[in-house]
Amino acid sequence: MGKDVIIACDFSSAQATFDFLDKFNEEKPFVKIGMELYYAEGPSIVKEIKKRGHKIFLDLKLHDIPNTVKKSMAVLSKIDVDMTNLHAAGTIDMMKAALEGLTREDGTRPLLIAVTQLTSTSEERMQNELLINASINDTIIKYANNAKEAGLDGVVCSPLEAGMVKDSCGKAFMTVTPGVRFADGDIGDQVRVTTPAKAKEIGSDYIVVGRPITAAEDPVAAYRRCVAEFVD
Ligand code: C5P
Repeated sequence: MGKDVIIACDFSSAQATFDFLDKFNEEKPFVKIGMELYYAEGPSIVKEIKKRGHKIFLDLKLHDIPNTVKKSMAVLSKIDVDMTNLHAAGTIDMMKAALEGLTREDGTRPLLIAVTQLTSTSEERMQNELLINASINDTIIKYANNAKEAGLDGVVCSPLEAGMVKDSCGKAFMTVTPGVRFADGDIGDQVRVTTPAKAKEIGSDYIVVGRPITAAEDPVAAYRRCVAEFVD
């Protein structure tokens, strides 16, 4: 499994996304499309970006009854994304159904990863509001193991959690990690951040980087800096 940098294309329209991608002449970066852009533009944005030669991580975080998730994943599989995700909180049954839906007739399928606990959920809220009486780290490890048992390829987590997930689920279980900042950059609203070089050291397989690239004066140079630190 190759390490790669995924650019979070958190733009609100197709035009803004294409204006950004047009800056890349030599590389075809792996891009993440989230709910905002997908709900604004629909499946056509995925097809268009794919046609331009990019790999796509469609970040829609599905969470519903197994049958609904299975059928929705079958649709996503047809629009030919490379990676997509769901909430591990939907249970092992839901994750297994998702995999079935995602698998094409020829046996191929996009990578499927699970969100364990969102990084916006604090341990206190998880315990007091969701009545989960465990530590947040134990929950993350349990959900990651559930995802592995269901046959998923990995999880989305903080790069700082990637080491403990690998220790518990094995090296081949993928970690896709947002929350990445350059050592000399702004951290913005992210809390638990690390650099691309440190994420590589801890064992992330893919880093998801948004504003350090999209808001940079020279996005192509910022992307290359990420690749140089994380991949090369
Ligand atoms: O701009 P920035 O680098 O903070 O973007 C990170 C991307 O990763 C955003 O699209 C954000 O929604 C996503 N993400 C995150 N933390 C998570 C899950 C997803 O930052 N736990």
